[in-house]
Amino acid sequence: MTRIGIIGGSGLTRLQALEVDHRELISTPYGDPSAPMLFGRLNGLEVAFLPRHGGNHQVPPHMVNYRANIWAFKEMGVERVVGMAAVGGISHAMAPGRLCVPDQIIDYTHGRKHTFYEQDLTSVIHIDFTEPYCDELRACLIEAGRRVGVDLVDRGTYGATQGPRLETRAEIQRMARDGCDVVGMTGMPEAALARELELCYANLSLVVNWAAGLGDGGPITMQEIERHLEDGMGRAVQVVSALQRDGRCQG
Ligand code: HPA
Repeated sequence: MTRIGIIGGSGLTRLQALEVDHRELISTPYGDPSAPMLFGRLNGLEVAFLPRHGGNHQVPPHMVNYRANIWAFKEMGVERVVGMAAVGGISHAMAPGRLCVPDQIIDYTHGRKHTFYEQDLTSVIHIDFTEPYCDELRACLIEAGRRVGVDLVDRGTYGATQGPRLETRAEIQRMARDGCDVVGMTGMPEAALARELELCYANLSLVVNWAAGLGDGGPITMQEIERHLEDGMGRAVQVVSALQRDGRCQG
């Protein structure tokens, strides 16, 4: 069966609209994924859903078992995966409430288990990562957004930071100089691991705050983040569920 995989980020530990057929805790050579995987239908679309931060939003970004999560999708025969994420906005267009389908990544994370190519190698392997996301799935998300009238920014550079703390003003200024449009804590190594297993992976980011030192320059509050999560994740889910009306995008 062709299914779309969805990795839910902050604000999406539960996919309310999902009609669950069954759930399965998939064990992998890398340990357990963040939660049991839920299989079911989202507005008619066959999906496999995994909340990245666990069922109770208890796994922080630097502790997520990214390898087990990605392996679990591969194991279940899911070939296309959308990683959903809450991010901070850096560039002018990325105001809170915006949705973005990034096309590039800069990785500032460290110390995470970031590859499957560690042991039992017969030769050293370097994956191509020039274009870190699956272009076909990106196009499907952008098209789905247009179809349901949800405004999306159709490209951008995702800067992945280590967390769990937010960044300093100087770090964000540096990231802006580097060309980052948004900043989040979970985009890597997820995207690279998906590429290593040859999954077609794309990211759908929801901007939930201005990054540190931007906006009014004051501290970033959880209330601000939660307010934007609440009204933005509904639109993000609308986009993903609209993938169903295009067979090409289904799996
Ligand atoms: N920085 C990093 N990750 C985030 C942010 C941020 O400002 N907002 C939501 N996730």
